[in-house]
Amino acid sequence: MFSFEKLDYPLIQAPMAGGPNTAEMVSTVVNSGAVGSYGFAYAKADTIKRDLNAANRLVEANNSGAINANFFVFNEVEMPAAGQIDNAVSCLCELTGDTDIDIPQSPYYPDLNQQLEPVWACRPDILSFHFGIPDTAILEKARALDIAVGITATSVTEARQIEQAGASFIVAQGIEAGGHRGIFNAEASDDLLPAFSLLKSLSDITSLPLVAAGGIMTSTQIREALALGASAVQLGTVFLTTSESGASPAHKDYLLNKTERHTEITHGFSGRPARGISNRFIKAMTDKAVLPFPIQNSLTGKMRTRAVSRNDGEFQSLWAGQNFAGCRDETIAELLARLFD
Ligand SMILES: Cc1cc2nc3c(=O)[nH]c(=O)nc-3n(C[C@H](O)[C@H](O)[C@H](O)COP(=O)(O)O)c2cc1C
Repeated sequence: MFSFEKLDYPLIQAPMAGGPNTAEMVSTVVNSGAVGSYGFAYAKADTIKRDLNAANRLVEANNSGAINANFFVFNEVEMPAAGQIDNAVSCLCELTGDTDIDIPQSPYYPDLNQQLEPVWACRPDILSFHFGIPDTAILEKARALDIAVGITATSVTEARQIEQAGASFIVAQGIEAGGHRGIFNAEASDDLLPAFSLLKSLSDITSLPLVAAGGIMTSTQIREALALGASAVQLGTVFLTTSESGASPAHKDYLLNKTERHTEITHGFSGRPARGISNRFIKAMTDKAVLPFPIQNSLTGKMRTRAVSRNDGEFQSLWAGQNFAGCRDETIAELLARLFD
């Protein structure tokens, strides 16, 4: 069974859906003695199987690291009224000048049980979840197969629910974090806690291992998190500009060269709050109505794909944590050497 004590480095390379987590990234981290993660979010079972097998092929025998497969927990959502959809569609066409947009006919989200089929077969060491707690049957199956389960919390209330559900550890995600905020109910009021405040509050109420996530980019911050009682840290943004990362060229370019920009939290890309580098799309979407998650995500899909193929950083999601200026053009080996100096 996985335990943080077995790792050479108390580090989880964050699951990052949408391309950054290549098999090279995951296996390099695992071979170094830390946790390498895949963010599977919307991925289909075939892709999940392919990716887990690809990492397994590259992982050396007797490594002291671990593989983590991460999934979103989607809530059922109703299609909004036709008028609301029309508004969102015309807003997007006006903003981008594109008319080729997929108008969502029904909410698309994958079936978690189907996504998990290859996981039960490939048996990664860890299974982690974002946006909520999966069904009890899933947690029981993971326990029966000796797979540790981590779940993201952004508040004390969520952490209590995670402990009650029987998870193995909690990822304490602060407001600084890049990408989607793991808050269970995106419509509910948000405590907006920074990572270290959340970590301190959670260490008072739970004995589960805690993983600090959000804005951690340096060895000093890692030491601070561990001194506050974290069993490990989870870092996403700092891995995006490594040679092994599959982030788009524009994403890497903005992280490394547009450090005068700031990050902000937007609902514009997916309908859920997520932090990224401010660009034309995020700014234009301020105060605009968006469709509920994940319908807004389907609506903006073609725009994002087009922007990636045109290498246009202004209309793709450039997910990044608040401290992205700490990103470097480096290999994972170089990154680990400076994080654990
Ligand atoms: C590009 C990107 C994609 C992300 N995708 C996921 C994801 O699929 N699942 C998840 O649990 N967290 C995801 N996150 C959040 C990370 O797990 C973590 O909370 C965050 O990266 C920590 O903050 P940092 O980016 O400042 O290091 C993502 C973060 C980034 C930057």
